[in-house]
Amino acid sequence: MWRSVVQRSGLRALVAEIRGDVCGYCLFHINDGKPSAYLHSLAITPEMKRQGLGRLLLGAAESEAVRVGRRLMRVDVRMDSPEAKLFYESAGYRFVSVKTVHYEDGSSATRMDKRIAGREFGKAGRLVEKVVCAAAAMLRRRLR
Ligand SMILES: CC(C)(COP(=O)(O)OP(=O)(O)OC[C@H]1O[C@@H](n2cnc3c(N)ncnc32)[C@H](O)[C@@H]1OP(=O)(O)O)[C@@H](O)C(=O)NCCC(=O)NCCS
Repeated sequence: MWRSVVQRSGLRALVAEIRGDVCGYCLFHINDGKPSAYLHSLAITPEMKRQGLGRLLLGAAESEAVRVGRRLMRVDVRMDSPEAKLFYESAGYRFVSVKTVHYEDGSSATRMDKRIAGREFGKAGRLVEKVVCAAAAMLRRRLR
């Protein structure tokens, strides 16, 4: 599995080091012609967990994806890893679907994604957008 991932074009790797010691990495794909980036793997050494390094690597991967024009980051998260699910949820990822027997050991994954570029509208934002559109339409009618 790893060989096929590394051989694919568009693979990017980020490594977190503290005083020369590797304490985490992140592998992600940015493929030509695809609007989304795919986060393949992210891990932090056990002794360095819960210190914000995972969030830092994830943010760096998202920034790079945005920089080269991607609008969405996708990730498949092992269903038997509640810490990973909570990690991605806390970073704004949402549930998309379940992928059964996704890993070589037969485990299933939860597909999650996050919009990483473009306009972010919450409930209030959508309301403001509707009001602005309605006002613009009214103005256009008056100017005719
Ligand atoms: C998932 C993983 C990458 C998180 O890395 P991390 O550096 O420990 O995470 P951070 O310190 O950046 O945590 C950011 C937020 O994620 C959430 N989070 C992370 N680990 C969590 C846990 N074990 N339980 C609950 N929430 C968690 C929290 O909201 C946390 O914010 P907080 O510490 O202010 O509460 C790390 O636990 C890991 O390497 N796990 C094994 C590999 C893995 O599952 N990778 C992900 C699948 S690709």
